[in-house]
Amino acid sequence: MEYITLSNGVAMPMLGYGCFLVSPEECERCVTDAIDVGYRAIDTAQAYYNEEGVGSAVSKAVAAGKVRREDLFLTTKVWIMNAGYENATASIEASLRKLQTDYIDLLLIHQAFNDYYGTWRAMEEAYKECRVRAIGVSNFYPERFMDLALFSKVRPMVNQLETHVFQQHKGDWLFIEKYGAKVEAWAPFARGEKGIFTNPILMAIGQKYGKTIGQVALRFLVQSGIPVIPKSTHKERMAENLDIFDFQLDTEDMMQIETLDQGMNIFMDHEDAVQIEDFFARFGVK
Ligand SMILES: NC(=O)c1ccc[n+]([C@@H]2O[C@H](COP(=O)([O-])OP(=O)(O)OC[C@H]3O[C@@H](n4cnc5c(N)ncnc54)[C@H](OP(=O)(O)O)[C@@H]3O)[C@@H](O)[C@H]2O)c1
Repeated sequence: MEYITLSNGVAMPMLGYGCFLVSPEECERCVTDAIDVGYRAIDTAQAYYNEEGVGSAVSKAVAAGKVRREDLFLTTKVWIMNAGYENATASIEASLRKLQTDYIDLLLIHQAFNDYYGTWRAMEEAYKECRVRAIGVSNFYPERFMDLALFSKVRPMVNQLETHVFQQHKGDWLFIEKYGAKVEAWAPFARGEKGIFTNPILMAIGQKYGKTIGQVALRFLVQSGIPVIPKSTHKERMAENLDIFDFQLDTEDMMQIETLDQGMNIFMDHEDAVQIEDFFARFGVK
């Protein structure tokens, strides 16, 4: 495993297991499989409703002596309906309880909605109390990211963004890194959209190295310095997705993959904003 060093010196694995759309019932089995094939970082969120499954898998793996807690890197995210100092403080305690741990390795604000300044103060406090080893944000696009970075005591250490070969965000990486944070890629396979798993450029490059399209897509990001958190519920795919540290793309490969960039989000766009509006409306926020 390779690691990236965050601005406070914490080492974060370059590849972790993503738990979005893993049902609460299936989550314990999936995270156990992920740990068994060698994953050491797990990405969940309050809004995935599967923190208990992660906590259960992790505590059983630690109790069985498969792995030490300090060798695992657990990420969770404060959901927008838990925003604000008091709600976020309570939700962090709930996440710690569900994850069955004394500390979270990386805690993120899930999205830049609601009172995220209040949320950030709760996270700064949890960080100072060593309940959290690193804090950051997700889906904060340049203006909001810069605002929080400039006007808070502790600067975000990570910004987790939709990032894959079709949305490479190169300009944003530079902007975000200027403020000391690292970009982390969510949906590194574009969730299977845009024909990624049959893409001829990725296929031809993979054939040169005896690697699959998925492995090339992940390798491109990792080799660019971007940590990735691919999701699969299949153990053999989990192992395949982890097996990307024994080959190196050359400059020509990297340049060819750069041509796939369409510079647009697939998931976080106008439609998504409309869905979020509907979601808020269900809670009476209009
Ligand atoms: N911060 C945020 O707002 C945010 C948003 C979305 C996601 N995330 C995080 O990022 C993680 C990854 O993103 P994602 O789950 O949306 O999508 P993703 O990892 O880009 O893609 C997952 C899809 O790819 C398939 N897949 C995985 N490995 C494969 C392989 N080797 N060959 C063929 N198909 C393969 C999976 O199917 P199977 O499961 O059937 O194998 C699943 O349908 C999430 O799980 C979550 O932790 C964060």
